[in-house]
Amino acid sequence: MNLLLMEVAQATQRLADAGVPSPRTDAEELAAHLHGVKRGELHTVPDAEFDARYWEVVARREAREPLQHITGRAYFRYLELQVGPGVFVPRPETESVVGWAIDAVRAMDVVEPCIVDLCTGSGAIALALAQEVPRSRVYAVELSEDALVWTRKNMEGSRVELRQGDALAAFPDLDGQVDLVVSNPPYIPLTEWEYVAPEARDHDPQMALFSGEDGLDLIRGLERTAHRLLRPGGVVVVEHADTQGGQVPWIFTEERGWADAADHPDLNNRPRFATARKALP
Ligand SMILES: C[S@@+](CC[C@H](N)C(=O)[O-])C[C@H]1O[C@@H](n2cnc3c(N)ncnc32)[C@H](O)[C@@H]1O
Repeated sequence: MNLLLMEVAQATQRLADAGVPSPRTDAEELAAHLHGVKRGELHTVPDAEFDARYWEVVARREAREPLQHITGRAYFRYLELQVGPGVFVPRPETESVVGWAIDAVRAMDVVEPCIVDLCTGSGAIALALAQEVPRSRVYAVELSEDALVWTRKNMEGSRVELRQGDALAAFPDLDGQVDLVVSNPPYIPLTEWEYVAPEARDHDPQMALFSGEDGLDLIRGLERTAHRLLRPGGVVVVEHADTQGGQVPWIFTEERGWADAADHPDLNNRPRFATARKALP
């Protein structure tokens, strides 16, 4: 074993002792980041190139700073995004939401589908849809100026139209014209603050995490916004916590102008997002 791989093994143990959920992956990612190689190429780094800064970044991860804040990048579907303090780190669960959204737009057979991402954060959802749905017109809104610093970097050169503002009042100019509304809003109940992992609780912005006592304040508001934006037959997709699968579809009721409300699991088979179709008149 070369020196670097021995250091990685020691770092893995330190991270495991600190309660980091994926210690080996993170120890390898940190080493790969410092050496500018992929994780699978670590064995090619010569011993002489071992970098003493490794233990500095391991100590940061040991203190539960998110891996993505240390490396400055997050992977989401086919994207590599820039992230750091002030913006929510995109999560793998949300990739399933985007997958469902892509299938739904394809099934519509619209030539230039109009898509709105409410609460875009780093821009992960909007950018993935712009990349994976050819000829889509994608709009995104974010309220936090701190998050927007990162959104703008990620969206530079993309065709997503970004606006700053409150999602609930967003895009009045698109009312009744949108084919798909997608959102991963804040949804953690305030009552669950103490159970949130330190990486999220201490490093993701509070505005990205919490939304009232039961976590559903913003989703209730987004139901009206989605109804306003969508054309009849258009669909909404909203991510939620794995404990909210029995509640969120019930926000999209027939009385409020919705059809086909349903809930869907993520790749870990946990309830993760609700969908509904705006009823035809
Ligand atoms: C859970 S994060 C999701 C970010 C991104 N969509 C993703 O999936 O990675 C929620 C985002 O909603 C933003 N936000 C919260 N309240 C908002 C509001 N009323 N209007 C617009 N954005 C809002 C937060 O700043 C944060 O960026």
